[in-house]
Amino acid sequence: MISIIDKLKDKRKLTAEEYKALLTTSDPQIVAYLTSQAREVAQGQFGKGIYLRGLIELSNVCRNDCFYCGIRRSNCHVSRYTLTREQVLACCEHGYQIGFRTFVLQGGEWGEERTTWIADLVHDIKQGWPDCAITLSLGEHPLDTYTLWRKAGADRYLLRHETHNASLYKLLHPHEMSHSHRLQCLNWLKESGYQVGTGIMVGAPFQTIGSIVEDISFLIDFQPHMIGLGPFIPQHDTPLGRFPAGTVDMTARLYAILRLAIPQALIPSTTAMATLTPDGRLRGILAGANVVMPNLSPTDTRKMYALYDNKAALGAESVQGVQTLAEELSTIGYHIDWGRGDSPAM
Ligand code: 5AD
Repeated sequence: MISIIDKLKDKRKLTAEEYKALLTTSDPQIVAYLTSQAREVAQGQFGKGIYLRGLIELSNVCRNDCFYCGIRRSNCHVSRYTLTREQVLACCEHGYQIGFRTFVLQGGEWGEERTTWIADLVHDIKQGWPDCAITLSLGEHPLDTYTLWRKAGADRYLLRHETHNASLYKLLHPHEMSHSHRLQCLNWLKESGYQVGTGIMVGAPFQTIGSIVEDISFLIDFQPHMIGLGPFIPQHDTPLGRFPAGTVDMTARLYAILRLAIPQALIPSTTAMATLTPDGRLRGILAGANVVMPNLSPTDTRKMYALYDNKAALGAESVQGVQTLAEELSTIGYHIDWGRGDSPAM
């Protein structure tokens, strides 16, 4: 098993059987070796600095109806909100003062009628804070829309593929959503010149070790600049709300495998990790993650952006907690890197 890990570090690719062995081993020494190798590779790329991204949850209005997501359109228990342009700019100003140099605008997927509003907003943020990177995470749109937003000043785009297995995709999404269209969008985003992030929910209902192996192979082929992975966490008002949550252990293993396979990738230790266990974020970093995305959204809308139950949005998960986060990182010998944190592959 040790030789499989060394091979992954060296060749950046394994056979399906070898990935399965790493994903299923119950030997803690093997897992410890895997994460220590991933940590070493991450430190070779980024030192012990962790990049921060200020997350602004733009709106919980969504046209999609994904079976796992708390802000799906048919969840009538959600009170819907959309931040105003002024509110978003105030979040940026606040974040900039603290030291953030990347803003992530994330929200439910809107129809194309709001495309210009987003383009104008991106333009205004770029004007106000020209030294900052803007990341969008707003779902599937036509190539023209992606191009327009890119021209307006957006630098990066996050769109998780959710699963590379078409049958599993169907079990997680309503029939009007298409797996091949999602992959098409990822290609359009690359074509439009964005730094692109994609990824999956770990431990999603019906997911198998085999489907995770397919995701690893897809990620290696696609070579994203950023990889977003978090454990699935049920949301009680959704059709999949009674399924068990994914685990921090499996997610951390995947961070480690992907760090070894794609050394330069920007990998956040996600909010879902911190939600499952208080040391989840640190465990992600110790497995090779190198980014944290504190919440910059107005405090009163945060609870309305509930993709899953008990989402961590306070403490070190929030902008108020940057000091707490810095202290937490220092306990494992890491520190905040206040740079923009562009992909070294660009
Ligand atoms: N648990 C964990 N992650 C979720 N997401 C949506 N719903 C959940 C959930 N119940 C993730 C999806 C989406 C991202 C914005 O949030 O992967 O792409």
